[in-house]
Amino acid sequence: MSFVKNAWYVAGWSRDFGDDLKKVTIVDQNMVMYRTSEGNVVALEDRCPHRLLPLSKGRRIGDDVQCGYHGMTFDCSGKCVRIPGQDNLPASAYVEAFAVEERHGIVWVFMGDQSKADTDKIFDMAEFSDPNWHAHHGDALHLKSNYLNVAENLVDPAHVSFVHPTTLGNASSENVPVHVQTKGDPIIAWRWIRNAPPIGFFQNFGGFSGNVDRWHYYNLHLPSTAVIDFGSAATEDNLEEENRNDGVRIFALHFVTPVNEQYTIDHWMHLRNTAIEDEAASEQMDAMFRTAFAEDKEVLEAVQEEENRPQKRRPIRIAIDKGPNIYRRRIRELIEAEQTEDLGEPEKPTFVHHD
Ligand code: FES
Ligand SMILES: [Fe+2]
Repeated sequence: MSFVKNAWYVAGWSRDFGDDLKKVTIVDQNMVMYRTSEGNVVALEDRCPHRLLPLSKGRRIGDDVQCGYHGMTFDCSGKCVRIPGQDNLPASAYVEAFAVEERHGIVWVFMGDQSKADTDKIFDMAEFSDPNWHAHHGDALHLKSNYLNVAENLVDPAHVSFVHPTTLGNASSENVPVHVQTKGDPIIAWRWIRNAPPIGFFQNFGGFSGNVDRWHYYNLHLPSTAVIDFGSAATEDNLEEENRNDGVRIFALHFVTPVNEQYTIDHWMHLRNTAIEDEAASEQMDAMFRTAFAEDKEVLEAVQEEENRPQKRRPIRIAIDKGPNIYRRRIRELIEAEQTEDLGEPEKPTFVHHD
């Protein structure tokens, strides 16, 4: 299986969860999710232990879920509280429950060994609760593509010149080298394009007319949360790298959730350090991001279709692949560590002596 499981993944925005039973699939695990009368979001295995009907096809009884086939009922910890027609509730009558945490309008679920669900490990950033920043939740982009292809695109600043020529890139960045920091978490790929015309995004937003210095920092947090820090400042301001807050600065966040091997959902949102009270600016930015991400979707789905066809040779790697390569290696290592950690140390060989 090719997913990191001991990790928090985004199941949706807070606004996506209410009284209704909602089916959500993450790392090939089907879950039924809903909000209890106390306001907590719960996630249960979406499979009745009796005849396997998904519980999402049943109904709510208070904060419990009743299976739609023979009425077995489970509370929000997954424990069976009723089996119609019998009094005893065997220990095997339960469904798995997954840890859920809701923060900044984002609903996270821990998919692996539940004893390892540590909420301190949930992605966070100070700007979420900083009054000098405005956070805006965008959409969920559905892609018929493996999550590794989606996530590696988010540590790949080189594609913007070609895939997003009207919004996030332009020809002036085609040959600017990409720097990559591969140690630690996140993996960072970045570049500055100095003294060049503003890209479409900053012509519309930021109001730059003359040349600008523009930066793109792609921070990819394992397993699959990307923070794209990009912005511009007038070239005559001579902005230093560490003073990016003095320019027009945007964080585009992508929470990449693997649904299964062939399907991924990217919940994206953005934060900005200007136009704090201006809702029209959020709409304007949403529209530009929608244009750009539809371009990524078209590329990534076409790539996936080709990957599914017979291969004659291995894909080649080029200089700009450093970030993506290191990302894939780190994911492989994480998956391997998860799959072997319960095995413990290899046993000492035992020698049997025969007389
Ligand atoms: S399948 Fe759920 S109670 Fe029978
Ligand atoms: Fe892109």
